[in-house]
Amino acid sequence: MDALKAKYLDRIASAADEAALEEVRLAALGKKGEISLRMRGLGGMEPEARAATGAALNALRDEIDSALRARRAALGDAALDARLADEWLDVTLPARPRRQGTIHPISQVRDEVTAIFADMGFAVAEGPEIESDWYNFDALNIPGHHPARAEMDTFYMHRDPGDPRPPAVLRTHTSPVQIRSMETQGAPIRIICPGRVYRADYDQTHTPNFHQVEGLALDRSLTMANLKWVLEEFFSAYFGTRVKTRFRASHFPFTEPSAEVDIQCSFEGGAVHVGEGDGWLEVLGSGMVHPKVLRAGGIDPHEWQGFAFGMGIDRIAMLKYGIPDLRSFFDSDLRWLRHYGFAALDMPALHTGVAR
Ligand code: DAH
Repeated sequence: MDALKAKYLDRIASAADEAALEEVRLAALGKKGEISLRMRGLGGMEPEARAATGAALNALRDEIDSALRARRAALGDAALDARLADEWLDVTLPARPRRQGTIHPISQVRDEVTAIFADMGFAVAEGPEIESDWYNFDALNIPGHHPARAEMDTFYMHRDPGDPRPPAVLRTHTSPVQIRSMETQGAPIRIICPGRVYRADYDQTHTPNFHQVEGLALDRSLTMANLKWVLEEFFSAYFGTRVKTRFRASHFPFTEPSAEVDIQCSFEGGAVHVGEGDGWLEVLGSGMVHPKVLRAGGIDPHEWQGFAFGMGIDRIAMLKYGIPDLRSFFDSDLRWLRHYGFAALDMPALHTGVAR
């Protein structure tokens, strides 16, 4: 009994980790452990010897059991101490730098434009980028044979012969949203529609995908004067300085009369400065909405009239933020995005363009 006790207490004391300790436990107290086997052997003993040996074995088992527990707790404490010594963290160290993404200038300018027009009571309307040729052309008074249709370098969606659906295009301008909004909202109406548009054209000043913002205001007595005021208010807020506009007579199928609008600027030293000098830069097309277009949108031209305009977002972004090349907007060059992009907290503010 003494030898057994010495043997196991010694092995327990020298077990280096929990696995070794578990081995000792199995060897002594497991189902086939030495002490368990001896206890099973009690049955074949004389009653007196059995009582004495049984009591001694029970005591031994209890002693080994509590030695195991004590050793396990000690090993656990030691392991924890070792981890604590090993795995410490200096919470005063500066965090590892993480690159933040930036807001693309197009997104930023779209938000600025939206904020300024919202302040003048214009809501944002949207339409699909894959558009039926009815909304993109016919409803806007651009019939099949009209040269504007050919001029627009339209992307047509593929159609199998016999496809019963009407022909569809990638919208060439945001003007179809005028019709959709008239249909769903009726008159009076005051909306802008910013969005992507597409034309099969690629050179230094054209990309197949670009951005426009459409404007539409209908009421009982709106005139070109209201259009001019709205646009001058807009440009002055957007560029953060008083900007004059110049209306040039023009032609669009969806407006009558039509005007192309230039903003005042100087071209000194190769840089464009909006709102100063005596130069002019074309930035949008506009006019009084054609009666046929009103009718296509389900609106009675004898009761309602108003103005519309369409402006290139990319163009006014380049002008405000000094971005020289249109194509760079679509390159996804990270260095360019870091340079021209905006922090998420550069929220558009009225009359200053943007708070920076
Ligand atoms: N849709 C024209 C374009 O893409 C721009 C435009 C001109 C829109 C006159 C208008 C407008 O609403 O009245 O070139």
